[in-house]
Amino acid sequence: MKNIKIIERKPSVEEYIKLRNSVGWKILQHDKIEKGLDNSIYCICVEDQDNIIGLGRIIGDGGTVFYIQDIIVVPSYQKQKIGTLIMTKLMEYIDNNCINEAIIGLIAISELDKFYKKFGFTNNQNNRFYRYNG
Ligand SMILES: CC(C)(COP(=O)(O)OP(=O)(O)OC[C@H]1O[C@@H](n2cnc3c(N)ncnc32)[C@H](O)[C@@H]1OP(=O)(O)O)[C@@H](O)C(=O)NCCC(=O)NCCS
Repeated sequence: MKNIKIIERKPSVEEYIKLRNSVGWKILQHDKIEKGLDNSIYCICVEDQDNIIGLGRIIGDGGTVFYIQDIIVVPSYQKQKIGTLIMTKLMEYIDNNCINEAIIGLIAISELDKFYKKFGFTNNQNNRFYRYNG
């Protein structure tokens, strides 16, 4: 863990595809990825010796609605609290930039209930997780 760096930056399209591939997620159309990443409101990349090993981003309107997307840690680095580090940085950004009544959402598998509960999210029975700031 000693060379791990957490950086506020947008991933490149290639890095984004590499990370999605590492966890077996569907790869989307190249030009659409670029547009999607450009429209992110905040991105976090985690690097180990300049190689990207983790990612998280926020999309939304930047004031009242935030959506957490693409929380990924490559499998060989999982279970070392890197996911927690990414979520902590994203929630810090939201807490510093949102109004009190902001709606913050994400979609996740129910196995991750505990992981997201630590950040104040409640599973709404259908794997859509919400947190209302207030
Ligand atoms: C989900 C993910 C980002 C977690 O990253 P991580 O670095 O392994 O997470 P952490 O080490 O910070 O784990 C924090 C806690 O969540 C739990 N946790 C992490 N991944 C889990 C999983 N897949 N299933 C169940 N619990 C999990 C850990 O056991 C740990 O619990 P503890 O605090 O009681 O020890 C990572 O497993 C991943 O990239 N998964 C594939 C992509 C994915 O599903 N992303 C989430 C999309 S919503």
